[in-house]
Amino acid sequence: MTSSATKPRGVRARAAIAAKTLRTDRWWFAPLITVIGLSAWVAYATVRVFMHKWYWVEDYHYLTPFYSPCVTDRCLPEASHFGQYLPGWWIIPDAAFTLPFLLLFRLTCYYYRKAYYRSFWLSPPACAVPDGHASYGGETRFPLIVQNSHRYFFYFAAIISLINTWDAILAFHSPEGFGFGLGNLILLGNVVMLWAYTISCHSCRHIIGGRLKTFSKHPVRYRAWGYVSWLNVRHMQLAWITLGTLALTDFYVMAVSAEWISDLRFIN
Ligand code: FES
Repeated sequence: MTSSATKPRGVRARAAIAAKTLRTDRWWFAPLITVIGLSAWVAYATVRVFMHKWYWVEDYHYLTPFYSPCVTDRCLPEASHFGQYLPGWWIIPDAAFTLPFLLLFRLTCYYYRKAYYRSFWLSPPACAVPDGHASYGGETRFPLIVQNSHRYFFYFAAIISLINTWDAILAFHSPEGFGFGLGNLILLGNVVMLWAYTISCHSCRHIIGGRLKTFSKHPVRYRAWGYVSWLNVRHMQLAWITLGTLALTDFYVMAVSAEWISDLRFIN
């Protein structure tokens, strides 16, 4: 008899029972919610990215993160904080320099991998539930070996968080000069959550405290590692919260830009 430890890769080790699973709880609920949540978010983001309008509020300098930085020659000049470098073809997102990296950062994220492997790929859909596929290749060959590049996308994501922070600072504006409204709170809240998600990344935790053999000789890194570790255990929650804050920020900017609502102003 072959033990599970010595089974060749791709051969499933499972007790000889007729039932697909012995679980009687609602194990399918989490994958189902994940499919609905991620599908809805991707649909919304895709529509918004290719809408090419309602991304900038001239009076208050609100720029949605879905269009930041705005780098095509279709962008409004005032919204192009970092210049215009690409032609404004409809297929090219206005934030073409950042969106692909953000997409890859999230796609290769350890949490999202778990989420979409379970919910979309059923590999496996839950603990003690059979894999939806006959064999298991892991992440050791193409295309899933690309998941190992996550640590590099972390650096791009950190730069993009800096750009979003700059956008949030520039938004303290009104036709009279300095101004502050509900839009600023939403933009700031989004940026804080984006930083929390980015810093809670497993790659970030490794960069901060990995490879250290003696923490006592590196007290600053040890302390930083402690903070990052505190965030890291909340990474899943932050992954979902930031999807929410991104969509909320974009929707609010769109609603004010389209003049469906007025921004609630606290100062100017
Ligand atoms: S592990 Fe999720 S962003 Fe790095």
